[in-house]
Amino acid sequence: MCYQSAIAYRACGIFEEGDMVMVREASTNGKTAMIGPLEKGRVYGTRKGDVKHDHIIGKTSRDRIRAHSSKKVFGGLFILHHPTMEEYILNSRRTCTPIYPKDASTICALLDILPGDTILEAGTGNAGLTLFLAKSVGEKGKVFTVERNEHAHKHAQHLVNGFSKGTLAAQVEFHHGSVVDVVSNVEKSLLLSTTNNKIDNVTNGVESAENESEAEKKPLLMFDGIALDMPTPWVELEMLHQHLKTDRYCVCYLPNMSQVMDLIGAVRSLPLLVENIIEVDWKEWDVRSTVVRNGNAMLPKSSFTNTAQGLSEVGADDGVEKPQDVVWVCHPVHRPIGHTAFLVCLRKCVDSK
Ligand SMILES: C[S@@+](CC[C@H](N)C(=O)[O-])C[C@H]1O[C@@H](n2cnc3c(N)ncnc32)[C@H](O)[C@@H]1O
Repeated sequence: MCYQSAIAYRACGIFEEGDMVMVREASTNGKTAMIGPLEKGRVYGTRKGDVKHDHIIGKTSRDRIRAHSSKKVFGGLFILHHPTMEEYILNSRRTCTPIYPKDASTICALLDILPGDTILEAGTGNAGLTLFLAKSVGEKGKVFTVERNEHAHKHAQHLVNGFSKGTLAAQVEFHHGSVVDVVSNVEKSLLLSTTNNKIDNVTNGVESAENESEAEKKPLLMFDGIALDMPTPWVELEMLHQHLKTDRYCVCYLPNMSQVMDLIGAVRSLPLLVENIIEVDWKEWDVRSTVVRNGNAMLPKSSFTNTAQGLSEVGADDGVEKPQDVVWVCHPVHRPIGHTAFLVCLRKCVDSK
């Protein structure tokens, strides 16, 4: 599906067979679940009853459907949504741990991607990062992604095709194998086709020796950015750095500080400078208004209230009877998004010395 059709599809939002759907319980802090691909006759079981795919097909986003429960008169009420890219990545079946959207969006920013860029990615895994990269490079760009595990390679294609009716699939070129072997093989085939062209030109008497030695030195397959999510990227970078354009970036996703140290030690001998080492902290906050009675609110100790008098700690009891007051309660939501990884951003310099 092209971009224009995808925009039109999301705007009208009618769910069809094959689509993925995000359902949200129509209650405060309603739980979400991803259902699909939609198929006539299929049923998705929830603790609030069974949701029939047939009841979703033909409906549109924000429509409500009721689950069927044998135990209760009424099953739960659910609101339908098209999954965002984040919801899609985090709720899809996995072959390995995906890069979380907080890290994936930072990697796109660090790579300084422009529409039309060509990015090399390895390993593809669950295509969590692939989707973010594909969105950043746009319709005219390309994500050249490599995965050595065959099952993961196939599953990633299925995931990219399944997101928003395959809107981003045209931008992604999937390759199976070890990234160094794949890049070497593509480079060899490009060299072979240029050599054949040269031979044809010589036969036709139009060959010129101009820039030949310069062209021979430079690889033909060059990338505007490289993103590596694998255990030992420094091994692969010994060869891959040649395929990164001058002054462009390579970002490595590394869960442990010992890997970061190994990488930094290894790139000293390569034309790559360490530009940044980042740990992305993404903290969600709960912000809502509540009523404080007599200066005491049943709120967590760490909460702060933003009253008309300014910021003050909730629960400070000065013994004076106070009227009921509406205050804002702001505190971080403690979700299990702890440490994910370090992002090491390397920049290609022309000279390694
Ligand atoms: C943690 S997963 C990648 C997750 C992915 N970035 C995502 O967001 O879904 C790491 C993957 O790298 C692959 N891999 C490791 N070394 C590789 C190599 N040299 N070439 C290609 N793929 C490799 C593994 O098979 C594995 O699937």
